[in-house]
Amino acid sequence: MDKTITEQDHLSFDEFDELTNPGPEVTDFQVLADKALSRRGFMAGGTAFGLSAFVLSTTALTAPARAASRLGFEAVAANTLDTVTVPKGYSWHIVARWGQPLWSDSRDFDGATRGTGASQERAFGDNNDGMALFTDGGRHVLAVNNEYTNSLIIYGNRDSKRPETADDVRKGKAAHGISVVEIRQQDGIWLIVKDSAYNRRITADTPMAITGPARGHDLLKTAADPTGTASLGTWNNCGSGRTPWGTYLTCEENFHGYFSSSDGTFEPSAELKRYGVGARDRGYAWAMTDERFDISKHPNEPNRVGYVVEIDPMDPNSTPKKRTAMGRFKHENAELVIAKDGRVVVYLGDDERGEFLYRFISKGKYVVGGDNNGLLEDGGLYVAKFADGGRGRWIELTPEATGMSSQAEICIHTRQAASAVGATTMDRPEWVAAHPGKAEVCCALTNNKNRGRKPNRGGDPTPVGGPNPRKGNKYGQIVRWAPDDADHGSDGFAWDLFVVAGNPTVHTDAYAGSENVTKDNMFNSPDGLAFDRNGLLWIQTDGKTSNTGDFAGMGNNQMLVGDPATGEIRRFLVGPKECEVTGFAWAPDGRTVFIGIQHPGDRGNSHYPDGGRSVPRSTVIAITRDDGGIIG
Ligand code: FEO
Ligand code: CA
Ligand code: CA
Repeated sequence: MDKTITEQDHLSFDEFDELTNPGPEVTDFQVLADKALSRRGFMAGGTAFGLSAFVLSTTALTAPARAASRLGFEAVAANTLDTVTVPKGYSWHIVARWGQPLWSDSRDFDGATRGTGASQERAFGDNNDGMALFTDGGRHVLAVNNEYTNSLIIYGNRDSKRPETADDVRKGKAAHGISVVEIRQQDGIWLIVKDSAYNRRITADTPMAITGPARGHDLLKTAADPTGTASLGTWNNCGSGRTPWGTYLTCEENFHGYFSSSDGTFEPSAELKRYGVGARDRGYAWAMTDERFDISKHPNEPNRVGYVVEIDPMDPNSTPKKRTAMGRFKHENAELVIAKDGRVVVYLGDDERGEFLYRFISKGKYVVGGDNNGLLEDGGLYVAKFADGGRGRWIELTPEATGMSSQAEICIHTRQAASAVGATTMDRPEWVAAHPGKAEVCCALTNNKNRGRKPNRGGDPTPVGGPNPRKGNKYGQIVRWAPDDADHGSDGFAWDLFVVAGNPTVHTDAYAGSENVTKDNMFNSPDGLAFDRNGLLWIQTDGKTSNTGDFAGMGNNQMLVGDPATGEIRRFLVGPKECEVTGFAWAPDGRTVFIGIQHPGDRGNSHYPDGGRSVPRSTVIAITRDDGGIIG
């Protein structure tokens, strides 16, 4: 096997971009000197929330505090097992797995071939990520993102571990997108309802409507769609969101990695480069059968992806709508709340080193039971600017503020707009989660090895400080903010850091993490984030699993539960080898939590879930309590 190709397979989208299309080197800004951060040095915003995690010392969690803990489970120890570990008194089972047929006209998954184009089109997609459960009239419909494919696994039936035929590409495109499945609980076990009228596959080829300010803009016009209003497919759907009017939001993240150029002399524009779109194929080879992925022939095609897409999960015939008003970037998830005046507020992260955190506010107001269909088409887009001292504000991206010609251009070149107003470059914003009971919001900043070392792709500096307090940040942190007047429509906010991840068994400096990180709950690279109905914060990780060096004692990727009121964090679950844990949904009665096990064995060392020498498969699992109680 070609060594270079093998190594490439192990790179994240981010790492691949760095290699093939490096951003600017540090030249024109003064990298701030390392702040001599003591573990107490994280108190930048420590007073904003009263009882902050950072004013808790380890000893502050004394016996009475522990007795009052709201975390109703025993901590799970870190491990490197090739299975899922949950607390004593809890059980888990598989609800859905990659390649599982959704209709009886499709054959069962074949581990030898890993399926065909035809079988994959009628089966659950690969690498499940964000999801949401919709319940109507006692029927449960789960919408699940299928983010991407690992060529080592999906093409592991070939020596090359590469797509070689048209059917390989067909299979790859069909493994992406969204799987909408009806599920039901039978004798305590959640199952997919095969042949349900709700079952649907949305793939990289499903017709989509382009809505909002960018609809019809010249930058969105292509030979196949001269009006710039209708595109085909959605891919690299990472995190998710849901609306109170019953629709699903799916977020296009690393969309750039599917384009390539057949013309070796083609030079992508600076605008495309800002998004990482380059000439070199990174192993998907979609341009082999679908010319729209060839940027030398269709340079506007990448402008038609990178959005939040709204889907009606209860209508399998509905056309998904790309909501350009929420901007174009590497969308992680979409956390929707309602402002005091009824407008819809959506918090959005752009997951790349040194990119930004955003907020959308609708022009119209949410009306319970009303026609809310167009709410996400029109509104204001804002980007976060953090200041030291625990304050920050949202800057609206308007033509006046950005120097851009129109709101349409801002919604297409959103990163450039945010750079123009001097927004705060962040340590890779992943999921945003809003507290259900008060105006408080958290965002996982997963890690950023470039912090303080290298500007972002747009040349913006990445100074050490504020919510990004460590140079070469390898562990990540969770930033938390409270909008002024407890109103998500306010432009000002107070912020602090709920947790700064680290390894207190290896480090004694800033890399030991904040006070609420101990040898018993340590983790790296927080990614998935969601509050449950009780206001507990569930944290999923997508980080290093070497279990050595800086990561010694952390084991496999995991899921933890934190109490924002006390700062306490406890490990709830450990995933199998080389997976990330991602995606959340709770059953309406709170007695089942659904989560995702994504890319087990992406480096070849897992046979989860079937064991032996079987092909590793991503799965959605259900976790229940043996006594039937509420989870958490
Ligand atoms: Fe798909 Fe940023 O994780
Ligand atoms: Ca993620
Ligand atoms: Ca991630």
